[in-house]
Amino acid sequence: MFFRLLLALGFFPSIQVTGITASQILVKQSPLLVVHGNAVNLTCNHTHNIFSKEFRASVYKGVDSAMEVCVVNGNFSHHPRFHSSTGFNCDGKLGNETVTFYLKNLSVSQTDIYFCKIEVMYPPPYIDNQKSNGTIIHVIDKLHCPPCLSPEPSKLFWTLVVVGGVLTFYSLLITMILFTYWVKLKNNRMLQSDYMNMTPRRLGPTRKHYQPYAPARDFAAYRS
Ligand SMILES: *[C@@H]1O[C@H](CO)[C@@H](O)[C@H](O)[C@H]1NC(C)=O
Ligand SMILES: *[C@@H]1O[C@H](CO)[C@@H](O)[C@H](O)[C@H]1NC(C)=O
Ligand SMILES: *[C@@H]1O[C@H](CO)[C@@H](O)[C@H](O)[C@H]1NC(C)=O
Ligand SMILES: *[C@@H]1O[C@H](CO)[C@@H](O)[C@H](O)[C@H]1NC(C)=O
Ligand SMILES: *[C@@H]1O[C@H](CO)[C@@H](O)[C@H](O)[C@H]1NC(C)=O
Ligand SMILES: *[C@@H]1O[C@H](CO)[C@@H](O)[C@H](O)[C@H]1NC(C)=O
Repeated sequence: MFFRLLLALGFFPSIQVTGITASQILVKQSPLLVVHGNAVNLTCNHTHNIFSKEFRASVYKGVDSAMEVCVVNGNFSHHPRFHSSTGFNCDGKLGNETVTFYLKNLSVSQTDIYFCKIEVMYPPPYIDNQKSNGTIIHVIDKLHCPPCLSPEPSKLFWTLVVVGGVLTFYSLLITMILFTYWVKLKNNRMLQSDYMNMTPRRLGPTRKHYQPYAPARDFAAYRS
């Protein structure tokens, strides 16, 4: 009776599931890596210390993990070598709980999802990791992407903006200074020219003969 109840509650399967997960390695990788150019470092963090153990760490390409990209076999007493049997240019670095794969010479067509796999061969029992969520490696062609060229042009752009701004400011400043001087000079000249214009009119010797009535008319105009 009690046994049946436990079965109905799914008690035993849950034990089995937790039993399996406890002995498995969990792998954490960043969900997305955007590659400008053709090299990327894929870091796989895992929950099993592979120090002084015999292990195998690898990267697989594709949703179905069909292609083995890079693999490293070994233990810490021998310097393990990263290699690829499928034509990838790969190298890497090992830590106790991290494996970093350096993938070079990637092409745009190799944009895909990549899964890290960690297996511990020795000492027994053999364990491997639960399939991770994977990393989408998005390769962008270096020659045909405007975003990866943008940092330099934007720097150039801002330099031009700053230089242009400073130049504009200076030209405005100089224009204003010159304008002020010009206005001052003009005022001075106007004053001078007023005097100069008025002096010959008053003192003009030739006109005095012909316009004897003019001042009188002017006086009349002012008075009326
Ligand atoms: C993997 O994805 C699942 C569901 O999207 C999420 O709950 C889990 O936290 C992810 N695992 C890691 C290691 O990011
Ligand atoms: C892996 O671990 C390192 C530190 O140990 C951390 O800086 C990094 O962000 C981790 N990467 C992921 C994908 O969790
Ligand atoms: C990958 O890591 C190595 C060593 O830290 C470094 O020399 C290299 O520049 C990195 N590559 C990329 C694409 O980040
Ligand atoms: C490391 O591997 C070599 C050869 O595969 C083996 O002879 C050696 O015993 C291993 N060392 C450890 C600490 O597992
Ligand atoms: C790796 O793990 C071993 C054993 O747990 C420890 O002695 C060593 O300091 C660790 N090394 C690093 C770099 O964490
Ligand atoms: C990079 O890949 C191209 C074609 O995929 C190949 O022709 C070239 O030899 C590779 N270069 C290196 C350094 O692996």
